[in-house]
Amino acid sequence: MSPEVKAFFDEATNTISYIVRDPNGSSCAIIDSVLDFDYASGRTDTASADRIIKWVKQEGLSVEWLLETHVHADHLSAAPYIQQALGGKIGIGDRIKVVQETFGKVFNEGTEFERDGSQFDQLFAEGDSFMIGQLRGDVLHTPGHTPACLTYVIGDAAFVGDTLFMPDFGTARCDFPGGSSRMLYDSVQKILALPDATRIFVGHDYKAPGREEYAWETTVGEQKTRNIHVGDGKSRDEFVKMRDERDASLPMPKLIIPSLQVNMRAGHMPKPDDKGDVFLKVPVNKL
Ligand SMILES: [Fe+2]
Repeated sequence: MSPEVKAFFDEATNTISYIVRDPNGSSCAIIDSVLDFDYASGRTDTASADRIIKWVKQEGLSVEWLLETHVHADHLSAAPYIQQALGGKIGIGDRIKVVQETFGKVFNEGTEFERDGSQFDQLFAEGDSFMIGQLRGDVLHTPGHTPACLTYVIGDAAFVGDTLFMPDFGTARCDFPGGSSRMLYDSVQKILALPDATRIFVGHDYKAPGREEYAWETTVGEQKTRNIHVGDGKSRDEFVKMRDERDASLPMPKLIIPSLQVNMRAGHMPKPDDKGDVFLKVPVNKL
């Protein structure tokens, strides 16, 4: 089955959010939504999420799932905001517990921050499946960028998050805590083992050098032959060397500090204080 896929590109964070629709009905899933955040002022905005909500209402869709491919470090998730407006269950990989353990420590969260994934409605593991109306989704655990990364294979479409980018851009960094270039290479092989015609939808696009337009859809076949990091039979050792060297030169994403604190809570802000005010922390010399 071939789901209808509607993409929403967020200029501020280069994120692509997707609405994936059962072609035989009105059920849909929303993957990797964005809550706008201006770090300088500490203000959130829902313009990006409202665009998605508007589309869902216009098309008369019913949201069954709000899926996260992983705990993003470059944007805040709008899943709880969209859930309040449209319903649906928030899902992520069950290795989220490892991510919560790591960043619970980094942000000195104390015992009230639970590290069991209970902030999410559904935790998925390798081999799990789920339904969007009559459309079946299968879960691949594809760690490397983070330990909890998932690829959602829905009909003939694979939503790979930050495991693979467009063939001319390559792959995502693997230097966040719990990341591993070796693991990423193995995860990519899992995705490339899907049929060649499988459509691949990536989580970010930054326009590769020489490319004028943003792009987010490719295929397994194209990635196998043309991906500059892993295509054309690149070996694991070649990849690991390239990836690790490159990662050592990358700056931290602008929104990593607010993003992790919010996304490890399924997109919820930390608990308000007794006056109802909400604060995020900045750990000094920890990341
Ligand atoms: Fe990411």
